[in-house]
Amino acid sequence: MSANDHPETGPPAGAASSATARFGPAHYVTAWKLKDGTHVTIRPIRPDDEPLMVRFHQTLSEDSVYFRYLGPLKLSQRIEHRRLIKVCRDDYDRELALVAERREGEGGRADILAVGRLIKFHDLQEAEFAVVVADAYQGSGLGMQLMRRLIRIARNEGHLRLTGYILPDNRPMLHICEKLGFRRIHPIGDPVVKVELALRPAGASKPGSR
Ligand SMILES: CC(C)(COP(=O)(O)OP(=O)(O)OC[C@H]1O[C@@H](n2cnc3c(N)ncnc32)[C@H](O)[C@@H]1OP(=O)(O)O)[C@@H](O)C(=O)NCCC(=O)NCCS
Repeated sequence: MSANDHPETGPPAGAASSATARFGPAHYVTAWKLKDGTHVTIRPIRPDDEPLMVRFHQTLSEDSVYFRYLGPLKLSQRIEHRRLIKVCRDDYDRELALVAERREGEGGRADILAVGRLIKFHDLQEAEFAVVVADAYQGSGLGMQLMRRLIRIARNEGHLRLTGYILPDNRPMLHICEKLGFRRIHPIGDPVVKVELALRPAGASKPGSR
């Protein structure tokens, strides 16, 4: 079982190739519109996002936290400075977290509405995802959008598989993964569902397409 927002459980330092280093994280900045028309910027997390992440965590219900971390995790632990330094770090070779940011008018206050994280296990050629959307914005399409972007990044960076761990009663997340082509694996004795997507390298042709 794994919940990859615990940065201290990530892969060993320095184990990375680097499409991100080649392109720079600016490559992953995109604009998107929620179903209700709200404009957001989806971009890699930055060290100066710590105060925004504190506010974001304050918006999460206990249920959302439970589904995200596969168990309870107190707000005080989630917003601990030592932890958030790691969560917001810009070590894009090991991890990449995308945040969806909404800004109240030009130069107005920015809020983070969602976070999607990719942990890159380079030796295993595998990456792991986790996503969480602020309760007030769930059902707006953000979870699906973040997943689409994480899949694209994992594929572009040469990973062969993308995996995630989901509680069996997390119907929206299982639905999203099903729509995106993940297969479900039920490890024996483990209450958590593992989902896995085989990633065709970018540019490779589909079987039977030639
Ligand atoms: C799971 C989560 C990431 C989904 O993000 P979201 O922005 O709310 O989801 P989206 O709006 O992109 O899509 C939700 C999809 O689930 C569907 N859905 C919602 N409730 C559902 C239910 N009870 N059963 C089945 N599908 C459901 C929606 O209809 C939608 O599918 P559609 O696009 O085919 O209509 C978000 O709800 C969340 O943060 N949950 C708490 C944390 C969590 O569970 N993280 C996942 C751990 S990896």
